[in-house]
Amino acid sequence: MSEPVLRGFSGDVAQNYARFRRGYPSPVVDALAEAFALDRTDVVVDLGCGTGQLTLPLAGRVRAAVGVDPEPDMLRLAGTAARHAGVRNASWMVGFDSDLPALGALLGPGTVAAVTAAVAIHWMDQAALFAAARPLLRRGGGVAVVTNGAPLWLQDSDWSRTLRGVLEAWTARDVGWACGTDEGSRAGYRDAMAAAGYTTGETRVEYEAELDLDGIIGGMFSAMSAVDVSDPYRRNDFEARVRAALAPRTRFVEHVTVVVQTGTLG
Ligand SMILES: C[S@@+](CC[C@H](N)C(=O)[O-])C[C@H]1O[C@@H](n2cnc3c(N)ncnc32)[C@H](O)[C@@H]1O
Repeated sequence: MSEPVLRGFSGDVAQNYARFRRGYPSPVVDALAEAFALDRTDVVVDLGCGTGQLTLPLAGRVRAAVGVDPEPDMLRLAGTAARHAGVRNASWMVGFDSDLPALGALLGPGTVAAVTAAVAIHWMDQAALFAAARPLLRRGGGVAVVTNGAPLWLQDSDWSRTLRGVLEAWTARDVGWACGTDEGSRAGYRDAMAAAGYTTGETRVEYEAELDLDGIIGGMFSAMSAVDVSDPYRRNDFEARVRAALAPRTRFVEHVTVVVQTGTLG
């Protein structure tokens, strides 16, 4: 088994993530609650929880939510967000997806209603994860893969295409990877769930949201490497380029499609 690696969600990246990344509207949590018949007796595990974008609203539907992430900075800010939101039934654990069996040993077999991975499954070994989740899950429970719209620089809008141009010129590389949010990746997750014995389903939640320039820059910094974000020279240079390229515009509308893929155990 290869050693899991950190993906750079530390320091300023984590700060920008907590401040600027979108959470999930309630129909997303409704879809998960319905798929797994969640109630106040349940425990859910959110892998790659980041700063708690999905863990916190999920915690409102169950007895306890466990957010797991390998980045201590993300978990610390998740804890802060929980305190600010008055959420008292979320726990935070440093770990990778491959640590799920150890968490299962702690919780016991058949004790977990759902194992979720939101905007994080592309870094995980999906087949191993879906197999490892099975013994933990209670009857009617399951696994869920959630994506939260396309990256800011890969959307079908004029401002997003401009942003992609700036990012490509600045990084001197192709930035076309959709981080697991494309249909091809989704088909792979669905197939991996089915191969592991789950009954698959999918719900889409679409909405429009407006961003300002600070939100775009913060969102970009939340998705970039810690070096680029924390090096003041590089950071200022990137920010100046984005502002110059986008400045004539005053409105930035995002069409967000959240896709919830579920795999349920009978
Ligand atoms: C893009 S963030 C998603 C955060 C949050 N779930 C959301 O929906 O916005 C991805 C998170 O996955 C974590 N991550 C990366 N590789 C991981 C792995 N192998 N196991 C668990 N978490 C991982 C990162 O540290 C990061 O916090």
